[in-house]
Amino acid sequence: MVSSSVPPATRASASGRAYINDELARKAWAVLSANNRSGYTVPSPELFPFQWNWDSPLVAMALAHIDEERAFVEIETLLASQWESGLVPHIIYHVPSDGYFPGPEVWGTDRQPPTSGISQPPIAATCLRYIIEMSADSDAALKRAAPLVVNLLRWHRWWHEARDPEGTGLVSILHPWESGRDNSVDWDEPLNAFEPVVDVSKLRKDRLHVDAKQRPSDVYYDRVITLIQLARSVGWNDLAMVQSSLFRVCDVGVQSILVRADEDLMALLRLMGDQAGAKQVECWHSKSREAIDRLWDGEAGAYRAFDLRAGKFVPSTSATAFLPLYAGAVDETKAKAIKELCDRAFTLCIFAMPQVMPDTPGYDPDNYSRGPTWPYLNRIIADGLSRYGFRDSADRLRSDTQRLIARSGYREYYNPTSGEGLGGDQFAWTAAAWLIWAGLVEKEQS
Ligand code: GLC
Repeated sequence: MVSSSVPPATRASASGRAYINDELARKAWAVLSANNRSGYTVPSPELFPFQWNWDSPLVAMALAHIDEERAFVEIETLLASQWESGLVPHIIYHVPSDGYFPGPEVWGTDRQPPTSGISQPPIAATCLRYIIEMSADSDAALKRAAPLVVNLLRWHRWWHEARDPEGTGLVSILHPWESGRDNSVDWDEPLNAFEPVVDVSKLRKDRLHVDAKQRPSDVYYDRVITLIQLARSVGWNDLAMVQSSLFRVCDVGVQSILVRADEDLMALLRLMGDQAGAKQVECWHSKSREAIDRLWDGEAGAYRAFDLRAGKFVPSTSATAFLPLYAGAVDETKAKAIKELCDRAFTLCIFAMPQVMPDTPGYDPDNYSRGPTWPYLNRIIADGLSRYGFRDSADRLRSDTQRLIARSGYREYYNPTSGEGLGGDQFAWTAAAWLIWAGLVEKEQS
C-alpha cells in the first residue's frame, strides 16, 4: 500500500480538522511521510533504518488521525514478524543497511525478514484500541483488527509466562534495550555486575550519525552485546535465557505499559465477543496490576526498577516512576507522591520530563536515556497524569513538548535545560507524539 503523501494542509478542508492547519503538525506529517517505507515507518532514516517494535504503534496512533489505512498496515507489518513463541521482536530488519550496528548477523535468530531476539514495551494493544476508537467506521475497524488481537493475545501471554515463569505477576526484562530506555542510569548497577566478553568499539555505527557525547559509552556497548551473545548461545530459548541471563530486572515502564495494554486488550476482546480470551487477560491484568505495588521503594518514596539478580531496587528514580498512573495502578497516597515528584521535576527543568531525575547521580542532560527529555515519553506520562486528574501537569508536559519542537525541530531527544535538540533528526515518534496531542485537542473541541 502506498500511503497518501498529500500534505495535511491540502486535506484540511476535506476533513475539516483544525490541527492540520497547525504549522508544527504540518511539519510532523512531513516527517512521517518522509520516513514511510510502504508498510512501516523508520524511526530516523540514517540512525535507525528499520522497523522498531514500540515506535511503530505510537506512529500508528498519530496516523489514526490522518490515514487509518496506513495506521493498520504499520501494526500488521509489525505483528507479521511475531515468533511462534509469541515474542514480537524489537527490531525487524526489512531491508539490508550497513549504517546500523548490531545487524542481523549479531543476533543470529535465523528469521525472514531478519529480526532481533528480544522484545520492547508492549504498547501495541493500547494503540490498536485507540485506532479503532478514532475510526469513522469502528465496526469495520474492529473487524480488521480481529487477527491482530489474536497476535496480541499471544504476545501478552509471552510476557506473562515466558518473562515471569514463576508466576509472580512481575515480568522481567533480560536486556536493557527491552525497556526502550537503552542506557538509562537505572541499568548501571545491573550491567556493572558482570564483565563484558567482547570489544565492539570498532563496529559501532551510531557515532557516525550522532555526536559521541550524546550516545552510550563503549563499555556499555560491550556489555549489551555480551548479553546478546549469551542469549544466542542458548538458542534464544525463553526459559534458558531467564535462567542464564546476567541481566534480569523488573522495569516499572515495561510493567506499567503491559498492565495498561492488558486493560486495552481485554476491552478489544470483549468488543469482539471473545469472553474466554477476555477472562484470561483479566487474570493476568489483575495479578500484574497488583504486583506494581512491589515496585514501590518505600525508602526512596518512588517506584523504581528491581534488580532480580541482586535482589534490590536500583538506586535511581527515572521518568518511569510516573507510569503506574498510566497503568491505573496507584492508590491516593502514592498518586500524591508521584504528583510531588512531578512538581519537583518541573522546578528543576525548563523542558520536562527528563528521562532520569536531575538530582540522580549519573544524570547527564545530553546523553540519550541518561537525562534528556523525550516527547514520546512525555505523551505517555501525560496520559497517566490526566487519568488521575492531574490536568495541569499533563498540560505542562504538552506545552514543554510544543516549545521544544518549535525551538529545535523533530529531534530524538532534547536537553531539559537549554532545549537543544539532540540525537537523531526527523524523528518519527517525536512527530507522532505531537500529532497525537494536536489530534486529541481537535477531538475535544469538536
Ligand atoms: C532507541 C530507543 C528505543 C527506540 C529506538 C528507535 O534504541 O532507546 O526506545 O525504540 O531507539 O527509536
